[in-house]
Amino acid sequence: MISYKELGLVNTKEMFAKAIDGGYAIPAFNFNNMEQLQAIIMAAAETKSPVILQVSKGARNYANQTLLRYMAEGAVEYAKELGWENPQIVLHLDHGDTFETCKSCIDMGFSSVMIDGSHLPYDENVALTKQVVDYAHQYDVTVEGELGVLAGVEDEVSSDHHTYTRPEEVVDFVTKTGCDSLAISIGTSHGAYKFTPEQCTVDPETGLLVPPMLAFDVLEGVEKELPGFPIVLHGSSSVPQDEVATINKFGGNLKAAIGIPEPWLRQAAKSAVCKINIDSDSRLAMTAAIREVFAEKPAEFDPRKYLGPARENMKKLYMHKIINVLGSEGKAL
Ligand code: G3H
Ligand code: 13P
Ligand code: ZN
Repeated sequence: MISYKELGLVNTKEMFAKAIDGGYAIPAFNFNNMEQLQAIIMAAAETKSPVILQVSKGARNYANQTLLRYMAEGAVEYAKELGWENPQIVLHLDHGDTFETCKSCIDMGFSSVMIDGSHLPYDENVALTKQVVDYAHQYDVTVEGELGVLAGVEDEVSSDHHTYTRPEEVVDFVTKTGCDSLAISIGTSHGAYKFTPEQCTVDPETGLLVPPMLAFDVLEGVEKELPGFPIVLHGSSSVPQDEVATINKFGGNLKAAIGIPEPWLRQAAKSAVCKINIDSDSRLAMTAAIREVFAEKPAEFDPRKYLGPARENMKKLYMHKIINVLGSEGKAL
């Protein structure tokens, strides 16, 4: 058993309380490899933004849970080397699906876990979430639960349509489980294809496709029921159209990839939403930069020559999210 505290990591408690009071949100960025992690830490250190490093099931399968944990430990030291004296870094399990997975992450130094029982019947979700909370809280590890189902694919589970969170259930869920934060469903979804063009309208000024508005009324309902309680938004990539265009220009084929408009996320960040999950945008930034190098320098075969630009492009994206979308710059001085 290793405590995250020995690794220089922090849990989400204080971070979320400050974010709600301050009207901003903490970025939760997924990582699967060194370049992504470097880019996240460089951006967080440069902006002095608290940051949540998220490890999904896919990441654990791809990169190995133990290795990712040690990389996060290294990231704390790297952040200090970059001049961030007091790094506020959380290592978080994204979409934990069983008690055993959550326990294994807690035992190896994660400071926060999500137990995603959102696809289970309500009572089973409550029981599973409570089991994780009871274990996690012994070690001061914070727990995110989820109520409501996002459309799209979450790991192996997929759903054709959203089931919005029911505000009338949240007090009961939080009281019975003791969870520290709650992910809700208000119309966001995972991946780069969040909406079909048919669901969107065309903005007459920009010509861009505008998706159907998020269910801010559901968010307001939840806030009314649970004043001051930390709320989490998954599926919050905006799918930058310049990255999509670069990918397609250099041989890619991403058709009608549409995300959540950034002003809507800014609006959410000012509310009780204090954690915003972003993964797909980083994948797009990485792929766009790599495709460009491959197309323009076909003789290049040193991975540093394409992973370097990919890292730079991801750092730029993370800085933009921190400064212009979530408002978390300078909140971890
Ligand atoms: O929740 C979804 C995240 O984007 C992680 O996706 O399981 O493919 O790593 P992944
Ligand atoms: P995106 O696919 O919109 O980046 O969402 C990521 C996420 O919610 C991770 O849990
Ligand atoms: Zn998610």
